[in-house]
Amino acid sequence: MIKFENITKIYSPNIVALDDVSFEIEDKEFISIVGRSGAGKTTLLKMLLVEERPNSGKIFFDNQDIYQIKNNKLSGFRRKIGVVFQDYKLFPSKNVYDNVAYIMEVMGAEDKEIERDVSEVLEIVGLSNRAENLPAQLSGGERQRAAFARALIHRPLVILADEPTGNLDPYQTQDIIQLLEKINELGTIIVLATHDKSVINTLKKRVITLEQGKIIRDEKQGRFIL
Ligand SMILES: Nc1ncnc2c1ncn2[C@@H]1O[C@H](COP(=O)(O)OP(=O)(O)OP(=O)(O)O)[C@@H](O)[C@H]1O
Ligand SMILES: [Mg+2]
Repeated sequence: MIKFENITKIYSPNIVALDDVSFEIEDKEFISIVGRSGAGKTTLLKMLLVEERPNSGKIFFDNQDIYQIKNNKLSGFRRKIGVVFQDYKLFPSKNVYDNVAYIMEVMGAEDKEIERDVSEVLEIVGLSNRAENLPAQLSGGERQRAAFARALIHRPLVILADEPTGNLDPYQTQDIIQLLEKINELGTIIVLATHDKSVINTLKKRVITLEQGKIIRDEKQGRFIL
């Protein structure tokens, strides 16, 4: 479904962020990317979003070479991918409902459709009872769940989560991991970049370990070893 083929990304002659990275992600897979700070995890996610382009190599998404996609088709392509970061990037002045609805409004969706879809994703992430609250009135874990609701609104094929538990305590972290598992069970590919040992060791899913931009391990039921 997604295939990285010999991806190399060099930011400057002495910064090789990704070095000949090749791997495939199957339908409905849940895959974690681990590695030290600077190992290339975020760069790898950015390559898939076409936020950065490689110096060499290709990425295929459903057999489409994503770097051949014309600029005017890129936003359509990116809608197949939901993104969640460590810092939630919610609009502070919009309540939870509007933070999610906003994206559909921009696309010109009808009110009825917006109401139906926003309710559905808030239900999935367990925030139906917080729809009217502002981000500042939520816990860190709830804010992150709102960010996932927003990422889910286009029914993406893939969710990229970059350190989504980075600012959370261990309980909130477990909540978010359970949410990721649930989203994955509903059929969405998850690519999770994380530092968090406990997350990896409880997931027992595929783990790719990066070191200085190279894949040094790719294990079906990985454990966190650095
Ligand atoms: N825009 C950029 N310009 C120059 N160098 C960059 C840029 N983005 C990343 N790098 C470098 O590329 C390397 C990989 O960075 P990346 O952000 O992918 O690491 P990471 O594994 O996500 O680290 P962290 O765990 O700290 O988030 C680092 O050496 C970083 O300094
Ligand atoms: Mg990073």
